[in-house]
Amino acid sequence: MQRDPIRCLETLTQRYGPTVVFARGADRQTLVTRDPGLARELLAHPGFRGSGLSLPGPRGSAQRRIRKSLFREQGASHLHHRRLVGETLTRRSALAAQDTMRATLDASLESWKPGVCVDLKTEMKQLARRVSARILFGQGDLAASDRLGVDLECWFRRNFATSTRLLPLDLPGLPYRTMLREAAGLEARVVALIRARRASPHPGTGDLLARLVAEADRAGGLAEEELVAQTFVLFLAAHETTAMALIGALVLLAQHPEVAQPLAADLRDLGPEPTLEALDALPSLDRALRESLRLLPVVPFGSRVATERISVPALDLTLGRGSRLVVAYDLIHRACETYPAPDRFLPQRWAGDSIPSQSYLPFSSGPHMCLGPAFAMATLKLTVGTVVRRFRFRLRPGARLDRRVTVTLGPAGPVPFEILPAEAPFEQVTIRGNLLQDRVGTTPVSVATPPVR
Ligand code: HEM
Repeated sequence: MQRDPIRCLETLTQRYGPTVVFARGADRQTLVTRDPGLARELLAHPGFRGSGLSLPGPRGSAQRRIRKSLFREQGASHLHHRRLVGETLTRRSALAAQDTMRATLDASLESWKPGVCVDLKTEMKQLARRVSARILFGQGDLAASDRLGVDLECWFRRNFATSTRLLPLDLPGLPYRTMLREAAGLEARVVALIRARRASPHPGTGDLLARLVAEADRAGGLAEEELVAQTFVLFLAAHETTAMALIGALVLLAQHPEVAQPLAADLRDLGPEPTLEALDALPSLDRALRESLRLLPVVPFGSRVATERISVPALDLTLGRGSRLVVAYDLIHRACETYPAPDRFLPQRWAGDSIPSQSYLPFSSGPHMCLGPAFAMATLKLTVGTVVRRFRFRLRPGARLDRRVTVTLGPAGPVPFEILPAEAPFEQVTIRGNLLQDRVGTTPVSVATPPVR
């Protein structure tokens, strides 16, 4: 499961049926499902919370305070905080942020010239990190927001390092202690930014943090500690996901000239610097992005923890408190009966409205559904739209692209991406590795009553 969770969930549900339940002790289970109906029903249940992004910390530590954010909350306080954070992430705010996004993108693409081979992974991660940091903290000092973005990412990575997880001990020289120290430093920096926004509020013109502070104050207040935790989660939830979505879309387009070529023509028809509103209205761009998020869902499975006993009548089962739910979004996206030829990149399949919403979960569903689709799609449309309009590109022939799943699904190593002369055609090349390879497990999702194990 650790090494290749996608393959593991695939094999498990092929062998035992679309829903599998394991006992974990006397009254705790793990329920794994690729059944879209059951997934929707369980994801909507208010008794589940998310499982959090960072490691726990000792009592009274910054590491512990930072974890108290949307992902792990539930019930009334989750709803209240979600509404508050959601107010800052509307489509209107995303449209207002497009100049920041465009300026960051233009600076990133400056070195992309014909004949150059870039590492798409490094480039898109840096771009997404800068966009997220500048939109969130960038009012006034872009360089400082970039630095904060780098440090936040470094701390976040340390949370997932095997060395940190193996020895979660607050002892000198251990990475866990370094992580705790980094969390404290980052918390102090975010507190300072929040206080600065409070001291000189510019709602409407400021960054997202200024808006969040204003919303929090308007909605009857949010403790500074809670505000810090929600700020962390916003940055963490936004940048890695957006980077992986950008890489997935551009890799798929590079390998599908029959989609990239007409898309480039459609984009050029929009004129030199199309606005986000114009890009939004372009069906070919929208379908290509939907299809890439289907085929390479950035979050390939969702995990929830039951905070109460939860009855599942469809399975004649009650999950005990502390049980775990795992929804295999990736496998739901590959069910043949909903998606004919599920392993093929076919943006055209989105031309009608025949695909049920419960079978398409790139942003999950229910109370913990992503709050950022407006910002995510704005960054994706601006970036993919600009790259496809400005450049001809291909993957380096023979490149090896293997997948890696941490919280997100993406390439394990670098992605060599060649910028071609303007007159060159888009070109599919032979690559190696399992990122795009046909996967097993595309057999129809059975609707038979699943076995309980
Ligand atoms: C393509 C980019 C993105 C994808 C694919 C994505 C996907 C997701 C998914 C699947 C979840 C639920 C996690 C689960 O089921 O375990 C989630 C949660 C969340 N996302 Fe995103 N996300 C993206 C970008 C963003 C952005 C740009 C923001 C903010 C600006 C954001 C903010 C959040 C927040 C706050 C949550 C937690 C919501 C809650 O627990 O109430 N996401 N995202």
